This record gives sequence, C-alpha cells and structure tokens, in this order.
Amino acid sequence: MKFQGSDNYVATQDLMLAVNAAITLKRPLLVKGEPGTGKTMLAEEVAQSLGLPLLQWHIKSTTKAQQGLYEYDAVSRLRDSQLKDLDGGERVSDINNYIVKGVLWQAFTADQPVALLIDEIDKADIEFPNDLLREIDRMEFYCYETRELIRAKHRPVVFITSNNEKELPDAFLRRCFFHYIKFPDAETMKHIVGVHFPGLKQELLAAAMKTFYDVRNLPGLKKKPSTSELLDWLKLLVAEDIPLEALQSKDDKVAVPPLVGALLKNEQDVTLFEKLVFMQRNNR
Ligand SMILES: Nc1ncnc2c1ncn2[C@@H]1O[C@H](COP(=O)(O)OP(=O)(O)OP(=O)(O)O)[C@@H](O)[C@H]1O
Ligand SMILES: [Mg+2]
Repeated sequence: MKFQGSDNYVATQDLMLAVNAAITLKRPLLVKGEPGTGKTMLAEEVAQSLGLPLLQWHIKSTTKAQQGLYEYDAVSRLRDSQLKDLDGGERVSDINNYIVKGVLWQAFTADQPVALLIDEIDKADIEFPNDLLREIDRMEFYCYETRELIRAKHRPVVFITSNNEKELPDAFLRRCFFHYIKFPDAETMKHIVGVHFPGLKQELLAAAMKTFYDVRNLPGLKKKPSTSELLDWLKLLVAEDIPLEALQSKDDKVAVPPLVGALLKNEQDVTLFEKLVFMQRNNR
C-alpha cells in the first residue's frame, strides 16, 4: 500500500512521505493545517487511491469517545419489553439487538481493510483523545453489555485532523505520526487550481493569484483566505465573466478586488484592506 497522489488532489512530496510513513508505522496520521488546506480531502483521496472504503467520524463539541465504539439503546429495549407479547419476546431477550455500533466497531469488524477518518478531533472536549488511546493503540475494546472483546480483523488506516483549537495530550501525540500541511506555495497552488479549473486562461490565473497572495500577505488579517477560498473566488470570476482588467491595476498598486467577499470573511479585514488601498492612492 503506497500513496502516490491522485488526479483530483495535489499532494506534495513531503505529504506523500508522511502518509506512507504512517501506513508503514501502522499509526494514525495526525494532519494539521489552516482551514481549507485539504486535510479532510486527503483522507478521502488516500482511501480512494488505495481502494479502501472510508468510514468517517465527524467530531462535534458534544461527541463522546464511547459513541465511536458503541451505544446501548436501553430505551428501545424497555419499550420492546412492554410490547413483548407481540413477537413472543424474542427480540428483547437478545441484547445484541440493542447495541448500536459506532464507527470504530464497524472499522474493526469490517471484512476488508478500511480507512478511518476522525475529522476535527480538536472540537471535542479535552478527555476525548485520551479516551481513545487504547482503541487506537491496541485496536481493540471491550463491550461490557455483551461481554465480548472487539478486536480489529484488519488494522484500519487512520487519519485524524485538527484545526489546533485545543492542544492534544502528549500520550495521544506519542501514538500518532504527525504532518502539518503547509500553506501551498504559488507553484503548488497553480497545480491545485489546474486540477479544479483545467481550462482557465493563464493571464486570468496569474492576475488572480497575484491578488490572492497580496491579500493573504496583508499584515494583521484576522482570517487569511486559503485554498478553498481561492477556488471559490476563481469560480465566481469565471461565472461572472469578470474582465482581466478588473484584476490588474495599471500602476502595480493594490486595488480592492471584485467579489472580495469570497476571500475576506469579516468586516475588519475588508476595512483594513480598503484602508491600505486608500493610503496607496494618496501616496501616488
Ligand atoms: N491539495 C489539494 N488538491 C486539490 N484540491 C484541494 C487541495 N487542498 C485543498 N483543496 C480544495 O479545498 C477544499 C477544502 O479542502 P478540505 O475540506 O479538505 O479542507 P480542510 O483542511 O479539511 O478544511 P477545514 O479545516 O475547514 O475542515 C477542497 O474541497 C478542495 O476543493
Ligand atoms: Mg476538514
């Protein structure tokens, strides 16, 4: 099993190296990076290119580790027990009918190797990663209700993404292989855009990229636009048929780009940008 990038996803050499290192080590790959730099998509693409089904677990602030293992549906069982005259109580006597299997259970008991994505682990509370240490390490857990040990038939390829909203515990980090997706340089970004808009005119791309990196390099921005914002913006530029001249200022000075709402996502950043443009005009 070796990941070599895919037609829809531009993976840099060090990212491919990291994916393959994690597979070799049989450890989860912990992927961090700015929002919109392709963390979630990486898991989807690796799974697809290795031919593995992908099981996804999207973490919220309310998610508990146990939900990924299994949950015991006592309420349904109680209700069924009150109606047991209907089917002779067959269903209610077997506790297995009331165990709701979580993503990890499904991944561990799948007949073929699978990929498993634990997306945005930093959204959960601080105990969440610690609660999964043994499951991730030993690939097994115990179901107390049915008194059985669930052990992975095949070790899943695990991806864990984080947006760095919370620190992860050291014991958890020890069990992962880590990779930070750096913000793509202009060359890589051109490839990424090429994947999404194969027929884009080179002049428009060059002008849009210049504006994009100008906006991004503005000191003091609260939220820097990322890959997905550039792609959205290009999509709009194409759809609205924005002329090239609207992106290029004659004297090489910064101008507020059309449809700036695709790139800047809060009013302070827009104001900051407008101020800069205004100052440059006056300095002329
Ligand atoms: N390397 C890449 N190759 C191709 N497309 C990319 C790449 N990186 C990002 N994209 C594009 O950016 C979009 C956002 O990617 P994705 O949802 O994976 O980001 P993310 O890092 O998971 O963001 P978040 O932290 O907000 O969840 C994707 O839908 C894809 O179109
Ligand atoms: Mg994501």
